[in-house]
Amino acid sequence: MLENALPVEYGERLCRHGDLDRYLIELFGDAYRAYREKWALTCSDKVQEQDNPLPLHVSLELADRCNLRCVFCYRHLSEQTNAAMDAGMFREIMQEIRRLGIPAMDFSLGEPLVHPQAGELIRLAGESGVLDFILTTNGLLLDDAMVDACLDSLTRIHISVDAVTPETYKKLRGGDLLRLERNIHNFLDRREKRGMKHPLVRLSFIVMDSNRHEIGAFVEKWQHLVDYIDFQTYISHDFVDGLADIVAPDPSALRCPDPFRYLSIRADGGLYPCCTFYSKHLLLDKFRSGLSLESVWNSPRMTALRQSFRDKAPCKACLNCLLGATQQG
Ligand SMILES: C[S@@+](CC[C@H](N)C(=O)[O-])C[C@H]1O[C@@H](n2cnc3c(N)ncnc32)[C@H](O)[C@@H]1O
Ligand code: SF4
Ligand code: SF4
Repeated sequence: MLENALPVEYGERLCRHGDLDRYLIELFGDAYRAYREKWALTCSDKVQEQDNPLPLHVSLELADRCNLRCVFCYRHLSEQTNAAMDAGMFREIMQEIRRLGIPAMDFSLGEPLVHPQAGELIRLAGESGVLDFILTTNGLLLDDAMVDACLDSLTRIHISVDAVTPETYKKLRGGDLLRLERNIHNFLDRREKRGMKHPLVRLSFIVMDSNRHEIGAFVEKWQHLVDYIDFQTYISHDFVDGLADIVAPDPSALRCPDPFRYLSIRADGGLYPCCTFYSKHLLLDKFRSGLSLESVWNSPRMTALRQSFRDKAPCKACLNCLLGATQQG
């Protein structure tokens, strides 16, 4: 019965609090509501008539490194820089985020917790004044000190799990599921002991042929313990290095909200319009002392990228991203 009712498409969400945005607004107030309203606009055609003067969200890669080697991850497909973000550069980026009043930030590329100063950087970021600060992690390095840094600083933590049995987890992610589950319980316990409702805890599950049969047990195990569960579609990165010549059957239907709301900064300081793997073809600039994120946001390259979507003529990398990649694994 449960099996039939389960969500399996990208974006399907099980939230224990009903509507997630409503709950976040309840927790974080009117400023958060205003930011989410602007965010929602970036998903409509309306915002594309006029650019946001600043990004709404900055995504940072603390370390282009990882303690796992998940079979489905883009990291195996090309050389990585192995960079860990310089703490001085990180501080300057935080000052910029505070100065500009950017409302949201995440650490979501690579494995953020392998950065040698991860706890300290999470705490610094927590003081940057953002309304929404999300960490996406495989969760295996969440020891007590890291949990406390997270509890002091984040609004949400996204923990990627993808399995309910140690065997499937091992096969997909190569790690120890029991250790991860202990870490998740410990996070929830420590949050409970502080009497806090946040950081909200999200678990994610990429739906693939190899783990689809575990969806029911996963939901039963976690739905009443964590704040929400997101099911994600497996994205194939097979063609990312050799971009295909794609002719869009209906270019007027092609849209991407990211260039209208997002900036991504990699561990080596590279600035990009999104955090997909295809963005490596869309380098905007390199972060350096004194560089304003506002100027990157309004740079000719970024403006041209936004215009390409208004003109219904996305570039080759975007066409590959929008039409070439998604398939079920
Ligand atoms: C690239 S990881 C980086 C953060 C962290 N290392 C982790 O695993 O959560 C960010 C998210 O992308 C997801 N992801 C990785 N490869 C994917 C793929 N091929 N298709 C869909 N999602 C993927 C991960 O499950 C994770 O939730
Ligand atoms: S833990 Fe995250 S970054 Fe590392 S290989 Fe897995 S999905 Fe990729
Ligand atoms: S590569 Fe282009 S289409 Fe894909 S998310 Fe980035 S900006 Fe959007």
